[in-house]
Amino acid sequence: MIRTKLLGLGSYVPERVVTNEELAYLDEHHVRQPTVQTETNDEWIQKRTGIRERRYVPNDRSQSTSDLALLASKRALEDADMPASDIDCIIFGTLSPDIHFPGAGVFLQQKLGISGKGCPCFDIRQQCSSFVYGLQMADAFIRTGMYKRILLVGAEIHSHSLDYTTRGRDVMVLFGDGAGAMVLGPMETDDPCAGIMHTSVHADGSGAFDLYLKMFDITHAPYLDYDFSDREVNSARYPQMDGKRVFLNAVRGMVMSTNAALAKTNLTWDDITWFVPHQANLRINEKVAEVAKIPNEKILNTIQFYGNTTAATVPLTIDHWRKAGKVKRGDRILSSVFGSGYTWGAAIFQV
Ligand code: UT7
Repeated sequence: MIRTKLLGLGSYVPERVVTNEELAYLDEHHVRQPTVQTETNDEWIQKRTGIRERRYVPNDRSQSTSDLALLASKRALEDADMPASDIDCIIFGTLSPDIHFPGAGVFLQQKLGISGKGCPCFDIRQQCSSFVYGLQMADAFIRTGMYKRILLVGAEIHSHSLDYTTRGRDVMVLFGDGAGAMVLGPMETDDPCAGIMHTSVHADGSGAFDLYLKMFDITHAPYLDYDFSDREVNSARYPQMDGKRVFLNAVRGMVMSTNAALAKTNLTWDDITWFVPHQANLRINEKVAEVAKIPNEKILNTIQFYGNTTAATVPLTIDHWRKAGKVKRGDRILSSVFGSGYTWGAAIFQV
């Protein structure tokens, strides 16, 4: 029986650390000003979200999302001990692609130096759920023999699209930049628990406008016709969120998919080494743990250090704790995610 194996893992976060304290003083170019730009503070952010700091790319146009993806991918390939030329498919999850089209996957392919190979690049747009959506695609492709070496990447640059004023503070404080990548391939085994054991993904479009970024509206001609000096119209430029509705639905979706993953595989928490939830808010993850009765010592979070990096959070969190010596090869992970759309899902897989 062919099953999907994780061959390599890597992540990358930019060097610049932005603390909660500094965030209040940043202008839209991420330059620290002498006076407060956004009425927020470390105590509020830590208490309501668990976030202490996040990473930002330099604001000098030197790095785009595919550059972050490249650095994470190189580390994943090195971990797999594999040249980039072995990759025969790229799946790229991001809500902050380099440009509107083409998608970020082809830029990554070119930067990896493998554009001559012509391998397919899939760009997926499931925001914070991209990792589990992409993992399901990769698993199906590999088990059917369609592709043999898949690079699955989640990368985001949020720092360029946030509202650095009090009006945007509920969203602005949450997000950070970063990337995570996995190399996946087939293995022949009779062990039904080996490799990727379970993936399930869902969507409910009725929640689409609870968390969205308009930027352009295809029903408008021309579709970028905003007067950015108008403060109301300016909101098309920044993510808009009904935080409380997203919070409640995130807890519900993550609990449901976590419980369903265990029920479908006949596993219990004794069989799971680590629970790696999407990193949107520490309080969401604490609530999910409480309702789904997840042992506290099995939960891995990194939101304290990186904020919400959307499509990157799960591979970034696993890699962070692997580097710290906690996560080891062969560990079984249950991951559940929830994001804009709404989209959600869960996966059980071995590192
Ligand atoms: O991957 C999915 C992505 N997003 C999420 O999962 C986010 C889900 N939602 C959340 O994480 C939370 O709803 C937030 C962290 C966004 C907000 O937390 P909350 O506990 O729901 O706060 P709130 O919106 O009820 O706001 C409470 C107060 C308000 O002031 P008043 O009206 O009580 O005077 C806000 O204006 O906190 C104020 N506030 C802030 N104060 C300081 C909102 N944002 C901030 C801020 N700093 N950054």
